Amino acid sequence: MPADPFLLPVDSLDREAAAAELARLSAEIAHHDRLYHGEDAPEISDADYDALRARNIAIEARFPDLVRPDSPSLRVGAPVAATFSEVRHVRPMLSLDNLFTDAGVHDFVKQVKSFLGIVDTPVFTAEPKIDGLSMSLRYERGRLVTAATRGDGTMGENVTANIRTIKEIPDELPPGAPDVVEVRGEVYMKKADFAALNERMLNEGGKLFANPRNAAAGSLRQIDPKVTAGRPLSFFAYAWGDLSEPLAATQYDAVRRFADWGFPVNPLMVRCHSADELIAHYRLIESHRADLGYDIDGVVYKVDSLALQERLGFRSRSPRWATAHKFPAERASTIVKAIEIQVGRTGALTPVAKLEPVTVGGVVVANATLHNEDYIKGIGQDGAPLREGRDIRVGDTVVIQRAGDVIPQVVDVRLELRPADALPYQFPTVCPRCGSHAVRETNEKTGKVDAVRRCTGGLICPAQQVERLKHFVSRNAFDIEGLGDKQVEFFHALDDAHLCIHTPVDIFTLERRESSGLNRLANFPGFGATSVKNLFESIEARRRIDLHRLIFGLGIRHIGEGNAKLLARAYGSWDHFYAAMKIGAAGDPETLAELNAIDGVGAVVAEALTDFFGEEHNRAAVDALLSEITPLDAEAPVTAGSPVAGKTVVFTGSLEKMTRDEAKATAERLGAKVAGSVSKKTDLVVAGPGAGSKLTKAAELGIEVIGEDAWLERIRGL
Ligand code: IVH
Repeated sequence: MPADPFLLPVDSLDREAAAAELARLSAEIAHHDRLYHGEDAPEISDADYDALRARNIAIEARFPDLVRPDSPSLRVGAPVAATFSEVRHVRPMLSLDNLFTDAGVHDFVKQVKSFLGIVDTPVFTAEPKIDGLSMSLRYERGRLVTAATRGDGTMGENVTANIRTIKEIPDELPPGAPDVVEVRGEVYMKKADFAALNERMLNEGGKLFANPRNAAAGSLRQIDPKVTAGRPLSFFAYAWGDLSEPLAATQYDAVRRFADWGFPVNPLMVRCHSADELIAHYRLIESHRADLGYDIDGVVYKVDSLALQERLGFRSRSPRWATAHKFPAERASTIVKAIEIQVGRTGALTPVAKLEPVTVGGVVVANATLHNEDYIKGIGQDGAPLREGRDIRVGDTVVIQRAGDVIPQVVDVRLELRPADALPYQFPTVCPRCGSHAVRETNEKTGKVDAVRRCTGGLICPAQQVERLKHFVSRNAFDIEGLGDKQVEFFHALDDAHLCIHTPVDIFTLERRESSGLNRLANFPGFGATSVKNLFESIEARRRIDLHRLIFGLGIRHIGEGNAKLLARAYGSWDHFYAAMKIGAAGDPETLAELNAIDGVGAVVAEALTDFFGEEHNRAAVDALLSEITPLDAEAPVTAGSPVAGKTVVFTGSLEKMTRDEAKATAERLGAKVAGSVSKKTDLVVAGPGAGSKLTKAAELGIEVIGEDAWLERIRGL
């Protein structure tokens, strides 16, 4: 096989090879930029795109005089994505949990019943899960006023002008509709319309869309509504957000009202009375999947009674009253051309298979994750064989699988097609980016060797530094507009102390440093005075930052968005949080117990926090950052009028009108902290029959104790 130049390590390139490689990278990156920004039809993953740019930067760093006038590193910020104004969703737009098996359906029904503490199976609805984009349409006094995309669930893009061009969406609602109603549903493109659109694009010399979903997204993101008007978009209404009055008593009837108002609703929505009926309807929809005329990727089940939906409420990202039963993943065979190693934010070395591109379920796949060293060798998590022990080699024909938006996986190897000269893959034991040792740690408690090999370079590893910065500025963390992955790489690679960004605090000192340096950022190709001004403004706007975004942005292992929110809510302010983390890291038992008592925070999270804050260099980086920013106190949930907001409540004994989970979820929704044991910090104990030692303890400490009825009375109507 001829050597793929992409595989040559940067260090081994001579001048001539480097120049050729820079020319190739410039063209290839420009091609992907066009696909991504112009057509909404990327061919490669963000990670692969990032790898191309990183390679370009690394070669330029070795041969600075070979930097081309059309270098991608100078084109930073050039392709500005279409910009729409932002809309804050009055009620967040959540996603759905997934399940894939019949057993999963039975579990879902069981969980609903056990949360509600009921024996009889409630009524559910079942309907197709449309593969499009979710949309929230706000009507005030019967008129469409805003249409917003889901965005991050809290803030979406204002696409009202484009939505008005969709004929299926009424501009006005008939008399009798609530004063305020947000109708939610899916914008999608029918398969026939998609085919016709691609045919037209072909004739007009435009770029083809990979599938109807991308076509719908691309059509909606047009800055000029006239372009959207020429695109055949459709809509199904299936949910709602803000309301001035209730719509109906059930999910089914609420959707019927949408139909009465003129919205398209899906004809395959039915009511079911058992898990078996749900599964039967799933099978029916699955058998009609190919002839529906639009893409669906599963079936959505929802509790029909809105009163029960209300009681079930939400987890951090999804409702407890609904779930998606997804169709099985689609598979295809292709060849592994190479195996590359990516270095992540926490130093994890992740192998990625570079594949002969193949279409799986309408999407071209050229990369698949290989997870870790053992996965390549054919060893599973518990040491048991994977794929009957078949390893994965460069040159192998493999079976890949793609489910929804999940990264494609290599699920099997076809040994009969293995080339005679294919060799077992040698996993690197040094970091490909910084050369530090890469090790597999042994978990002290379990004695097990971690499946992940990690670079030990920490902050000296450029890959880890860059990934941490990308995480820091990402949408759910600091969300700094104009400072995306590409810009982070650009600033990180700069050699100018007045302009480079190596750690988070550097972002906030950039403007000052720039103004006292010699080089103006505005003189860099692709920047310009306006984009520099905008960048500085968006950085300024984030000096005041939500506490959970800060905690998440620090990039501590195991602290995802959900945990960051739990911590922010539990500690309330940065000062409380940081003080506790410092004493906790020093081993203070009371602080550690408090941390462990936060519902949802387990030993792994607590340890990750103490590990992080126990490191001097992490505290120094945090202190530096905090000298530039002001964290805002955490917002308590529904505190207006809540008599339990900010109170610590303990439930004990058996509750008769609600389950323990439900009681806890309600209390938290109303801004209370729910603790498992009574201490000086407890404000209220809610005791049912059979309460024992906790009651005694409460009496000793003089804490208020009430019964279940009194509790319900206290929170009534909230
Ligand atoms: S209900 C609170 N019903 O699936 C959740 N969602 O994976 C309300 N989707 O973001 C969503 N068809 O964009 C619901 N019949 C359907 C759906 C549906 C497609 C999408 C929706 C949502 C995503 C979650």
